[in-house]
Amino acid sequence: MQLATDQRLVQEADSALIAAKSLSGAVSRTPEELANIVSLFASSDGWMDKVRLRAEQRWYERLYHGPDYDIWVISWLPGQSTGFHDHGASSGAFVVATGILEEHRPGERTRVIHPGTPRTFGPDYAHDVRNVSLAPAISIHAYSPPLSDMNEYELDGSRLVPRDRASGKADTVDQEWRVQKRKPLDRTGALSIEQVLSAARARLRRLSPDETYEAMVKTEAILVDIRPEGQRAIEGSIAGALIVERNVLEWRFDPASSARLPVATDHVQVIVFCSEGYASSLAAIALQDLRLCRAADMIGGFQAWRAMGLPIVPPSEAS
Ligand SMILES: [Fe+2]
Repeated sequence: MQLATDQRLVQEADSALIAAKSLSGAVSRTPEELANIVSLFASSDGWMDKVRLRAEQRWYERLYHGPDYDIWVISWLPGQSTGFHDHGASSGAFVVATGILEEHRPGERTRVIHPGTPRTFGPDYAHDVRNVSLAPAISIHAYSPPLSDMNEYELDGSRLVPRDRASGKADTVDQEWRVQKRKPLDRTGALSIEQVLSAARARLRRLSPDETYEAMVKTEAILVDIRPEGQRAIEGSIAGALIVERNVLEWRFDPASSARLPVATDHVQVIVFCSEGYASSLAAIALQDLRLCRAADMIGGFQAWRAMGLPIVPPSEAS
């Protein structure tokens, strides 16, 4: 008699759970279950003939949309990235099917993601995923509950701040992967300078002036001033910065160059700055391409450094 009562209570509890789940939409999948789902899907041939490559932005398509999870396939050309974003209340998992991606999170080491090993995460997880390789990559993603909301962030020093909604917050599932908007290619297929800069910065860990100052004081980082002489004479300079003008930068830092500086080794941390922090991003990438993989640039350049009250050599004293 007791056994029958227990069974009835269990059945009633199961019924209540099922009813609750149907009211709330569906059962949520755990990140580990999602990892199995993306792994199985990646090893199938259910996505290969659907993949497209798009130069103007990452291509993506939702291939399955169930009540409890959805599956997306995304292609990444070299330089394409998401920018920092979360996935709302969804947990998720993704696996690289081909190529190599990088995952960036503030305060954490960059993760290089090779095919076959899924990454998993819970709700409110923010990251920036990038293809910094020279080859296209394809990845499979699953979310539970199905992705319905996404928030963009900008990196302010070492913390994420929500991106201004007016600047293009993506908040619908139709927009969700268009985090990093890019202008279309022109008829010649050439990239705009905004696209080149955006692709460069997707590969960089940029430092605020405060972080740059700390790196100079606490580590052996080398601060490199790439501004031309005329600009230094007008703006002033930073004591301790090494002056290597942009037009000779690669020759002075290529570890294989006969014109290299003694400090130019492939493990040195070089932090490049210019006047406002634009040209320095391209310069830092040029150094990374020369195997100085720790090369970075300073956000906002000399003007941001000065605006933050960090020490400068005034123009009249600057050489
Ligand atoms: Fe993501």
